Amino acid sequence: MSFNAIILAAGQGKRMHSDLPKVCHEVMGRPMVLHVYHQLKKADPSASICVVIGHGREEVKKCFKGLDVSFAVQEQQLGTGHAVQQALNSPWGGKIGKAPVLVLSGDTPLITSEAIQAIAGEKLGKTVVRMLTTHLDNPTGYGRVIRKGKSVKAVVEQKDASPAQQKIREVNTGVYLFDSAFLRANINLINNRNSQSEFYLPDVLGIAVKKQKPVEGVIYSESRDLSGVNNPWELSLANQVMAGRINRGHAMNGVFFIDPGEVWIDIDVEIASGTKIEPNVILRGKTVIGSRVHLKAGTIIADSRVDSDASLGPYAHIRPESHVGKGAKIGNFVELKKARIGEKTAISHLSYIGDAIVGSLVNIGCGFVTCNYDGKSKHQTIIEDEVFMGSDCQVIAPLKVGLGAYVASGSTLTKDVPAGSLAIARTRQENKLDYAKKFKKGS
Ligand code: UD1
Ligand code: CA
Repeated sequence: MSFNAIILAAGQGKRMHSDLPKVCHEVMGRPMVLHVYHQLKKADPSASICVVIGHGREEVKKCFKGLDVSFAVQEQQLGTGHAVQQALNSPWGGKIGKAPVLVLSGDTPLITSEAIQAIAGEKLGKTVVRMLTTHLDNPTGYGRVIRKGKSVKAVVEQKDASPAQQKIREVNTGVYLFDSAFLRANINLINNRNSQSEFYLPDVLGIAVKKQKPVEGVIYSESRDLSGVNNPWELSLANQVMAGRINRGHAMNGVFFIDPGEVWIDIDVEIASGTKIEPNVILRGKTVIGSRVHLKAGTIIADSRVDSDASLGPYAHIRPESHVGKGAKIGNFVELKKARIGEKTAISHLSYIGDAIVGSLVNIGCGFVTCNYDGKSKHQTIIEDEVFMGSDCQVIAPLKVGLGAYVASGSTLTKDVPAGSLAIARTRQENKLDYAKKFKKGS
């Protein structure tokens, strides 16, 4: 069924202890409010969406860059009911037709399209409000659902609830489907006579009950999917649940984990089948991993690409805009930044390679460093195919090492090396015979 949707995202979220608006905090690499948006789009691709913004509005708008949503501004955050008033009074509110209005909170990142379908899957009929509820072992902080028989009578907020009402375990999840004409006609009838002096959206239910209009409370059993995030601890729990979902998805597509509870993969990361992932691997941003890649313990990759059959780590650090070629080997304590590594190249131990293009079948010994920064600008290093770089070498960029060249261990290169040549850039060794013996005796 098609609907219009309002996402409430104007609140500051004081308990987050952060200047960033609450809904912009990320859950596995995606702002909370965008998780809500994507599930909404999954439930109804044609939904017309209005996001209510207020606190930190520019930041929230940035989250939606390039996406098709309207915004309504709530200058002062006077409550969830007041937020919905702003959406209906905005140009968006003037354009929406008769389709029902779905309201969601931007701080419920674990919501699924299935949960949305649980209340939006069927026509409202005579019902004027259908709300999604769930049972929680610890309902503290949530609005409690007051029922009379099967139908819902009201929602009482934590701060307004009597001790008896606080014992109720059925809670309001903040997801509602309203008949649009009813919502328009009644949203301005709510008041702020409560302990927080806020205009509460769930008070619309009480008005419906008073007017003897049918109100439905649909109980959803997957309560974890409907948790709100109000503080950093709840944010960390949301990350944990989302990470589990993401890893399960990859495993079902043929990715092998030793322990999926010990791997953190952002939601936009792509991984092909046959890849093995050891514990303490972190994959961030828009990283793409090919098939049969081996990511060994402690490897971190951000916004980079790894082609098939490559092996990385343990403890490799791949920073943004890097590209590891097919069958390449990036070993322990190797850091790449804006580096392109060719096919079957091996960089096995303790190296930093930044702003570099490294060809294929290159062997880089232990302890290699691209000196890419002179304190003002970054410079590029080019290492062509089949170069052999001895251990403990540095290149002072910009610099190029030509095809098939051989660089002696311990060299500090300051100029280009022509293809096919041997470069030795270190002082010659001098041996002073018997000197050590004399030195030790102190004579
Ligand atoms: C709300 C519900 C509560 C429910 C819970 C579910 C109300 C009064 N209470 O409480 O019954 O159990 O969600 O998670 O609705 N917002 C605005 N403008 C405002 C105030 C809030 O846009 O003036 C936005 C916030 O940014 C947030 C959402 O609305 O995304 C919910 O607000 P929040 O303050 O977190 O409400 P809860 O106390 O969690
Ligand atoms: Ca909340």
